[in-house]
Amino acid sequence: MKCEKGNELYRKAKKLIPGGTQLLSKRPEMFLPEQWPSYYTRAKGVEIWDIDDNRYIDVGSTGIGTCILGYADPDVDAAVKKAVDAGNLTTLNCPEEIELVELLCDIHKWAEMGRFTRSGGESLVVAIRIARAATGKDKIAFCGYHGWHDWYLSANLASGSNLDAQLLPGLEPAGVPRGLSQTILPFNYNKPEELQAIIDQHGSELATIVMEPVRNVEPQPGFLEKVRELADKSKAVLIFDEVTSGWRMTLGGCHLLYGVKPDMAVFAKGLSNGYPMGAVIGKRSIMDCAQKSFISSTYWTDKIGPTAALATIRKMQKNNVAKHIGVIADQVRTGWAKIAKSHDLPVKIMGMPQLSVLSYDIHDGDQVQALATLYVQEMLDRGYLAAKTFYPTYSHNEKIAQDYLKTCDEVFALMAKAHKENSVLKMLRGPVAMSGFKRLN
Ligand SMILES: Cc1ncc(COP(=O)(O)O)c(C=O)c1O
Repeated sequence: MKCEKGNELYRKAKKLIPGGTQLLSKRPEMFLPEQWPSYYTRAKGVEIWDIDDNRYIDVGSTGIGTCILGYADPDVDAAVKKAVDAGNLTTLNCPEEIELVELLCDIHKWAEMGRFTRSGGESLVVAIRIARAATGKDKIAFCGYHGWHDWYLSANLASGSNLDAQLLPGLEPAGVPRGLSQTILPFNYNKPEELQAIIDQHGSELATIVMEPVRNVEPQPGFLEKVRELADKSKAVLIFDEVTSGWRMTLGGCHLLYGVKPDMAVFAKGLSNGYPMGAVIGKRSIMDCAQKSFISSTYWTDKIGPTAALATIRKMQKNNVAKHIGVIADQVRTGWAKIAKSHDLPVKIMGMPQLSVLSYDIHDGDQVQALATLYVQEMLDRGYLAAKTFYPTYSHNEKIAQDYLKTCDEVFALMAKAHKENSVLKMLRGPVAMSGFKRLN
């Protein structure tokens, strides 16, 4: 595969757009520096064509976890086209947003009201503003990744490594007011004693506890229940961030599977199959405190967002999409493990099956990164747009997974040989991929 146009355009982009792209997870440097296709012309189902007209099967995150039904889903797109024809944004409100609150509150019976935005990060900002307005308190206890905004990045003001264990290392808080330092307190997943320690010290000032109910590992028995208990004791609002975990494991937030109810839940990404949409739902007593504050934005009112979300949710409901995703996830993980064993490649399969991460059981972090880069390079040569992550979608079927695993067999054999012979770096045709946030030159 030759991606000359793509590489040239990306070199130009870096001169015109600081950081090259709008999203860290779309930087070519995160996958295969100097060789990644970078730009697409069209995509359908699991297929994507780059600007050099190469065709790939996406076995990565299919739009960074957004396109849960697959690219250009015909039902969602038909509904969106109708919304476009009807006029997307007018002086009056679109009635679809009421239908969407009702549907979300029907799926999450504990929730009674909702607000909408058009992205994951800004939905969290709204949820936190409401939590602070509801409690009259300021501080935030959190674990996991929750976006780029001041409230979150300010965690790295107190210590530059506070966020390193929370998904993305190296996030720089330049430009975030120093006054926010100490307002946000990190704890690690499955470590209730760390949250307890925060509450012992800051409980009376704690507005909210923000976390993903699950991401990389299952909650240990009693962990989520303990978080709920600590939130109640300290009168802090419990916010579950379901931006990435939502809809993949069951219809709605994955907290429904664990039986622990938050006070608010936040959705985006899979909610609307690639169209900008974000939702905050919650208990009436808390959501209504949005009225104490000014929370308002023009583009949160467009018709496409709620239309896409309604069409996506209804399709997921009708076709039990979460079940399908689980079946494909299990097929791929079982295949990875079997193939890796047969070649003696030390893989480490992490994450929830529906949000699988392929890593390597090697102590040397540089070697892990080099192997991950080699995997992407070799898969790309064979027509697969691969990444460390595999997020199955409704468009991935058993045949696609089977064919992909056949290619993994070839690629894992080559990787195992290179690893044994210490020749991984030699096999790379370009630099090793970056693993977190870094300044680009
Ligand atoms: C759990 C979680 N929260 C928040 C966000 C931020 O969402 P967005 O990129 O739409 O602002 C993400 C994005 O990856 C996420 O995974």
